Amino acid sequence: MNDQIIVTDNLTKKFKKNISVDGINMSIERGQIYGFLGPNGAGKTTTIRMLLGLIKPTKGNIKIFNQNLNKNRIQILQRIGSLVESPTYYGNLTGRENLEAVRRLRNIPEKRVHEVLEIVRLTKVANRLTKEYSLGMKQRLGIASALLSEPDLLILDEPTNGLDPSGIQEIRELIKQLPESGMSVLVSSHLLSEIDQMATEVGIINNGKMIFQDSIDRLRHKRKPILKVGVSDGRESHSILKGKGISSQWKNDYLWLEETKPEFVSEINATLVQSGISVYRLEEVTKSLEDIFLELTGTEGSL
Ligand SMILES: Nc1ncnc2c1ncn2[C@@H]1O[C@H](COP(=O)(O)OP(=O)(O)O)[C@@H](O)[C@H]1O
Ligand SMILES: [Mg+2]
Repeated sequence: MNDQIIVTDNLTKKFKKNISVDGINMSIERGQIYGFLGPNGAGKTTTIRMLLGLIKPTKGNIKIFNQNLNKNRIQILQRIGSLVESPTYYGNLTGRENLEAVRRLRNIPEKRVHEVLEIVRLTKVANRLTKEYSLGMKQRLGIASALLSEPDLLILDEPTNGLDPSGIQEIRELIKQLPESGMSVLVSSHLLSEIDQMATEVGIINNGKMIFQDSIDRLRHKRKPILKVGVSDGRESHSILKGKGISSQWKNDYLWLEETKPEFVSEINATLVQSGISVYRLEEVTKSLEDIFLELTGTEGSL
């Protein structure tokens, strides 16, 4: 069941001379929670605004639900719920009344208000004025509103921005349960840890370019531990191991190997020592996801 929900081909947006989104090929399948990750200014919101038909691409093509967004805009958008930037409410209405207003406008059955309040866990405060809501509650109300029409695709642009840790946790739990009802989710964030905890797929965007797109497991797999070996003569060690069919890398004054099993480590040690090399360090090193991100983006300190 490889149902494509979103496919973009060379999606590009230029504002005057500046290129904000640079030839993105995004691919999202049914039931996925796609984490769209990138530092501030990377091009996430611009991409999302193009997906929602709010701005026109400079170049490229967007297919949603296997249809061209250009040609079937209305049909497609009816099946998408979205929350981009901060949601707007009537502060002097209650949460329930705000949802009720949207429900009537869109001609949605009455019982759905109750359902979405349950999903976002706002039932208890549904009769309070929204101006008294915390930021987290407002954000959940925004998601409730996006869910009213039972969309097949939910697009959330940085839904946890500005929330405290417990608010972030709530939104995360909420998003994680959505695919159970067959929904697909695109959620953007500039926080790797957040995407790591809720997404099944990740697209990493930096300077408008997609630099990684795969399952979250593939990203985690890149964290597989490696072996760092301190030796008296790096070049010599490298060629001794090569002679034994063992590949290694000499980098930053250490020898690096892909394998860390105990038998392998002692074999390396014995081989080198027997060849007259002195081994002064053997260390297993695990990269953090942050390290991988930095490797991918080539930038520092932006996340
Ligand atoms: N309407 C606009 N006019 C000119 N530049 C814009 C406009 N919208 C976004 N940009 C620029 O595009 C780049 C990407 O912005 P944005 O998509 O908002 O990034 P993100 O959402 O990842 O933080 C930024 O350099 C931003 O300044
Ligand atoms: Mg943004």
